[in-house]
Amino acid sequence: MSELNRDGFGSRFGVLVAVAGSAVGLGNLWRFPYMVGNNGGAAFIIIYLLFVILLCLPIMFSEFIIGRRTQANAFGAIKKLAPKSPFLTIGVISVVASICIMSFYSVVGGWTLEYIFKSFSSDFLSASGSNLESQFKEASSSTIVPIASHLAFLGLSALIVVAGIKNGIEKYSKILMPALFFLVMLLAVRSITLDGSAAGVKFLFYPDFSKITGATLIAALGQAFFSLSLGMGCIITYGSYVKKSENLFKISLMTVAADTGFAILAGLAVMPAVFAFGISPGQGPSLVFITLPQIFAQLPLGNVISIAFFFILFIAAITSSISLLEVIVAYFTEELKLTRKTSVLIAFAIIGVFGTLSSLSNGVLADVKVFGKTFFDLFDYTSSNVLLPVGGLLVVLFVGWRMKKADVLDELTNGGTISVRGVILKWILFTIRFLSPVAIAFVLLSSIGLIKMF
Ligand code: TRP
Repeated sequence: MSELNRDGFGSRFGVLVAVAGSAVGLGNLWRFPYMVGNNGGAAFIIIYLLFVILLCLPIMFSEFIIGRRTQANAFGAIKKLAPKSPFLTIGVISVVASICIMSFYSVVGGWTLEYIFKSFSSDFLSASGSNLESQFKEASSSTIVPIASHLAFLGLSALIVVAGIKNGIEKYSKILMPALFFLVMLLAVRSITLDGSAAGVKFLFYPDFSKITGATLIAALGQAFFSLSLGMGCIITYGSYVKKSENLFKISLMTVAADTGFAILAGLAVMPAVFAFGISPGQGPSLVFITLPQIFAQLPLGNVISIAFFFILFIAAITSSISLLEVIVAYFTEELKLTRKTSVLIAFAIIGVFGTLSSLSNGVLADVKVFGKTFFDLFDYTSSNVLLPVGGLLVVLFVGWRMKKADVLDELTNGGTISVRGVILKWILFTIRFLSPVAIAFVLLSSIGLIKMF
């Protein structure tokens, strides 16, 4: 496809909902609440917010700059700007990380689908707490149904991606994202108005800084990376579909605001209810799938609320998974010159197989370990703790030190047509060159145990 008729986002609203759709996902609605619960509440949120604003905003910016400058997929983008340089690793990481993340993301996406259907049955919510726990264990560890759900989730994502940017990703995000916002708002209001919800609100907003340790800092930074879709060329790819006239700084700001807003809203939907029903906030990853149905069971119209909630989770997950899939498909179509359909089919086949392995690793393959981890944990660990930090580090180093400063400034100011204040420009360049690389290197080293805090 020539660059002139390359597909792209049609409108500013389209760009915003698509990028926000990528960022807002299971990371916000499923992972954020339990990370807050595990790490002491408000203090974790404050550190998370600091990291997002000081470190992640510049990284998002850097990815947008690379993408829009080159109008190409992550690999092709680096190839255009620095052919044969070691930075091409970014392109390789983008494809490998997409496959890794999708291989467990699609399985969790499948669980959300399964739980939508489960919520329709009347005995689902009449079960007691321990029963809900065994129901979840049974659902995730059985063979056929979770694999079928994973393939269904992946298939739905593939169908949207096949349709392209304007008529697929943009069109569906425009409908799905506002629906998502509406539903989470509704749940947050329901949660806050429960008797005894005040303790949950306090947990979210009154910090206890004595709870902060080195592990909290790292957890917060890792969460920010995952939640904002950074470090593997996802924003490079979406950035390549953004028109030259759009203000990248504004889009980055709005995406970060939307993603953070959704995370806080998810916290408000979950935490007050958790406290109102006397459940421990530090339940971990099962919080959504086990604890929330327990709460729904005690609410009037519990089934309806349950259906709505898992539908929300499903929507959030699918608008993120299409962005992950698009990274691979853009690479296949532009670098290997395959058609969009063939590319999607190949991606579906690869992720279908790896996702099946990771689904089975919660059941019959639980004892098969690679580097001491089940397939599911391996995909999760490799992407979040290795590939994303390495990719993010390379991205900021690339924009900060390798790209021509004039090109970077040109993208920042749209060729000098928008004025960005001197102080802000200096701050952006400083964070891209020094602050972000050092911070990411820190996370990376600590994740492999080379640095220990406190
Ligand atoms: N950010 C999404 C979430 O919060 C997941 C996601 C989509 C992602 N694209 C990504 C994570 C790229 C890391 C990198 O669920």
